[in-house]
Formats: sequence, structure tokens, C-alpha cells
Amino acid sequence: MRYLDIDTDTKISKIGLGTWQFGSREWGYGRPYAEQGARAIVRRALELGVTLFDTAEIYGFGRSERILGEALGADLDSVFLATKLFPLVPVSPVVEQRAVASANRLGASRLDLYQVHQPNPVVRDGTIMRGMRALQRVGLVGEVGVSNYSLPRWRLAEGALGSRVLSNQVRYSLVTRSPEQDLLPFAESHGRIVIAYSPLEQGLLSGSYHRANRPVNRVRAGNPLFLPENLERASDLIATLREVASAHSVTPAQIALAWVIRHPAVTAIPGASSVEQLESNAAAADIDLTDEQYEALGAASARFRPIGGPAALAGLARARFGR
Ligand SMILES: NC(=O)c1ccc[n+]([C@@H]2O[C@H](COP(=O)([O-])OP(=O)(O)OC[C@H]3O[C@@H](n4cnc5c(N)ncnc54)[C@H](OP(=O)(O)O)[C@@H]3O)[C@@H](O)[C@H]2O)c1
Repeated sequence: MRYLDIDTDTKISKIGLGTWQFGSREWGYGRPYAEQGARAIVRRALELGVTLFDTAEIYGFGRSERILGEALGADLDSVFLATKLFPLVPVSPVVEQRAVASANRLGASRLDLYQVHQPNPVVRDGTIMRGMRALQRVGLVGEVGVSNYSLPRWRLAEGALGSRVLSNQVRYSLVTRSPEQDLLPFAESHGRIVIAYSPLEQGLLSGSYHRANRPVNRVRAGNPLFLPENLERASDLIATLREVASAHSVTPAQIALAWVIRHPAVTAIPGASSVEQLESNAAAADIDLTDEQYEALGAASARFRPIGGPAALAGLARARFGR
């Protein structure tokens, strides 16, 4: 495992574990996964040096936090535990009460990273950050983070907190590259971090899915990337991933992760449906892409133009109603 070069109490692994899948109906992995599989994934992640575990109060309406907390058990204190506040009515007393509720579900005495899940379109960050400051003051929260924030709003949040907002958790992958424009340069130059979610684009970049084998769960049924036409359009990018993967004797998913975390300010939090996937993802931290491979992947990513907008909506409706 490799770790971010940043001054946090607990070092942060370059590959973390995303746990939206834990106890979530949308992912549809079922009870055996929630009751045993998830625990085995967490225990193996610990053995492999993963320290960043990411959850949220909204995942499975608290189930993900409970499953993660139980699985970590006595190891809770040695990891970098991250959860998220869903910013509905985010006035200070509510923020404080919700942090306590998350900590209770996790069985934790401290949240190493407490993130605002998404910007509230109406309430300014000053309101939320008053609660965050109080939580830091009493030691329940270590670092404050945000998620799905633009750069200007991240900076405003820092101004409101009056100290660093360590991280911004955003979608970042070979398919979604907008964070490169401003978030990554800012993070690198200011000692902040970008936590890349959906780094495998929900499994698309593993190369496991194609027109005749589309994923069925609710999360991906609503994701236009898995429309047959887009799966076909992605074939050039998948072929490039396979080519680089074969040069390293690894899988396309591992190369997709190695590409994302090559940036020094980035850590990725792939979800996993099995222990094998977790093992494979953790091992990706140690892959060194050459400059040539990194550029070839970037070029293939730039050539991938998925259909979106109204055309995708029609496709999603057709897929949903079988027409
Ligand atoms: N802040 C936010 O707004 C936000 C939004 C989304 C996600 N997140 C966080 O980010 C985490 C990761 O994002 P995500 O779950 O959306 O997408 P992801 O990590 O890109 O994809 C996860 C899925 O990819 C497949 N997969 C994982 N490892 C694999 C491997 N080695 N080989 C082949 N397939 C593999 C698995 O699905 P199958 O095996 O079923 O194919 C798995 O459930 C979440 O768990 C959550 O913690 C945050």
C-alpha cells in the first residue's frame, strides 16, 4: 500500500474503501453481502494496509455506518474514518446532533473526516461550518471535508470554517476528468486532497460489462454509461486499459485505479462486491504506470464520447420498460 504525503494524524492510504454498497438496496448485493461479505471485505482491507474507510449517514439510511463500525471493531482507532453529513437543514445544532448520531452508529469516539455530502443550494456554508467548528473544538471531528463542491465553493467553505477543509470528494476517473481543471491543481498546491469516488465508473472500467452483459441493479440501471450504445463507445478505452493491463500482468480495473491515483493529491475509494475485488483494488496502489502508458490512457479517455442528455434519457426509459 502507498499513502498520501500529507500531515494527518493517521496516514491516508492511496486506495481506500467506499462503502455505499454496504446495506444499500440500490446496489442489490443482498443479505449475505450485508451480513458477512461486507465484514470480510473490511477485515481484508485492514490486513492490506487500507486506512481510509468512507461511508455516509445516507448510505442504506445508516446501515452502511453500522456495518462498517461493527466490522472495524477495535481497529476503529487505527484507521482514517470518514463519513458524511447530508446537508438538509444544516444549522449548527442539527450538524452537531447528526455527527453524534453517525459516531454512535459507527461506534466511534471520533470521526477523522466529517464531510458535507453535497453543497446545499440554499444554505450558505457559514451555517454548516459553525457546527463543524464546534465539533472540532470538542474533538468529535478531526478534519472537515466537502463533497461535490466546485473550487470556488470549497474555498468559501474554508473561509467560513477559518481553517483547512482537508478534502473534496468528487467523481474522478478516466471517464470523468473535470477535477483536473482546477480541483487537482488547487489540492496539490495547497496541501489538500481530492478523494476520487466512482473511480471505476461503477464497474464500467473493469471491462466486465458489454451489450450482452449489462449490470442489472438500480444504481447502474439509472446510469447512462451502461446503455448499450455507450458500452460500445467505451470499447476503445477498455481495449487500451486491457493493453496496459497485460503489460503489467494485472486487470483493466487495476490500471483504471492506478491512473486515478497517479496524481499526488488523489486517493481513490472504490467500492467492492467481493473480497477478491478489494484485494485487486488495494494492489493497484503499487502499480507504476510509465509516462507513455499514462498518456495513452488519457488519450483513449479523451476519445470516449458517451451519449448523454435527451438521447440518453430516451435510452434509459427504453431499457427500463424493455422497449
Ligand atoms: N460523495 C458522493 O457523492 C459519492 C457518490 C458515489 C459514490 N461515493 C463513494 O465512492 C465509493 C465508490 O464509488 P462507486 O461505488 O459509485 O463506484 P466504483 O467504485 O467505481 O465501482 C464500484 C463497483 O465496481 C465493481 N468493482 C469494484 N472493484 C472491482 C474490480 N477489482 N474488478 C471488477 N469490478 C470491480 C463492483 O461492482 P460489480 O462487481 O457489481 O460489477 C463495485 O460495486 C462508494 O462506495 C461511496 O463510498 C460517493
